Amino acid sequence: MELLKQQWLLPEISYQERHQQLAALGKALFFDSNLSIDFSTSCATCHKPDQAWADGQATATGLKNKTLRRATPSIINTAYSLTFMWDGRSPSLEHQALMPIFNPEEMGLNADLLVKRIEQNPSYSELFDAAFDSNDITIHKVGLAIAEFERTIVSRNTRFDRWLKGDKNAMTLEEREGFRLFLDGQKSGCINCHNPPNFTDHGFHNIGLAKLEGQSADLGRFNQTPLNIMKGAFKTPSLRGTPLTAPYFHNGSANTLEEVVDHYQDGILAKENLSPSLINITLSQEDKSKLVAFLKTLQ
Ligand code: HEC
Ligand code: HEC
Repeated sequence: MELLKQQWLLPEISYQERHQQLAALGKALFFDSNLSIDFSTSCATCHKPDQAWADGQATATGLKNKTLRRATPSIINTAYSLTFMWDGRSPSLEHQALMPIFNPEEMGLNADLLVKRIEQNPSYSELFDAAFDSNDITIHKVGLAIAEFERTIVSRNTRFDRWLKGDKNAMTLEEREGFRLFLDGQKSGCINCHNPPNFTDHGFHNIGLAKLEGQSADLGRFNQTPLNIMKGAFKTPSLRGTPLTAPYFHNGSANTLEEVVDHYQDGILAKENLSPSLINITLSQEDKSKLVAFLKTLQ
């Protein structure tokens, strides 16, 4: 037995414990503003727990108050995502976690500085030791730990989920009618891209958002996949947590969920390279309210 353990054939601790210790380290790192060049910014500066892990701004604010180009997405249920960032340019949570730390506009460190900042705080030594059986600090381990923490940020007990599991009172009649509309491929078309339970198809679509005044066009997924249909296409976001994450869309151009629905009905102005999964919709005011009422159960 001892020999097997020594040779790593049997883990010293259970996988559950390992997960918890990794996530505990990741949590400490996620909330640590010493991991930015001017000590001002942690992941949680932009991904705020009380705002469904987004920031309530049209687009993010970076170091020195610089307005960045894209909105901060919620990180709820990114455990189930296949690609990361609005254009899907990152393949894993582990990979993504280091991007903002090294981005000169977001946290602005480099690899050496990241390790140094962590070494300067003695409490990390124990957390690294618990998570990795060694207090040696590497950027690879930083990515692993933050990703493991993010995987604990899940939504699966909203009113919608409780209704789905059989609690008839968890949703009102209006909300249930809204869900039926949501599922209707002819009437709303939402289901074409936002598939339950996570309300995404993991795909990329151009949904006809107009270019904002004074901004150059954001080509989105086209930078990764240079096909015309990917020009202006962005990742279908999960709608979990959405009631708390206004403004909406990658450029923050819709202020409310009502404005989002209005966009799909009347706002599709940019007609080039539109997703073939979009349909023309003509919802009554009442239907729109029902749809929005349903979306608000996803919190
Ligand atoms: C200055 C604000 C800011 C900071 C700081 C920040 N983020 Fe983000 N985060 C964003 C923005 C904006 C995006 C979208 C960027 C894009 O698509 O180009 C994003 C995207 C993400 C995504 C992808 C979500 C998805 O659904 O694709 C994850 C995960 C994430 N951030 C985690 C983190 C972690 C972990 C940290 C800290 C190491 C962090 N963020 C720091 C603003 C920020
Ligand atoms: C063709 C696929 C498609 C269809 C159909 C579709 N969506 Fe979307 N949805 C997306 C994509 C892609 C985005 C992100 C677009 C962007 O920001 O550029 C999005 C964004 C959203 C957002 C904003 C989320 C956020 O975090 O900013 C909401 C809310 C939303 N959709 C609800 C709906 C509703 C309600 C319907 C039906 C009326 C619908 N969608 C139909 C693909 C689709």
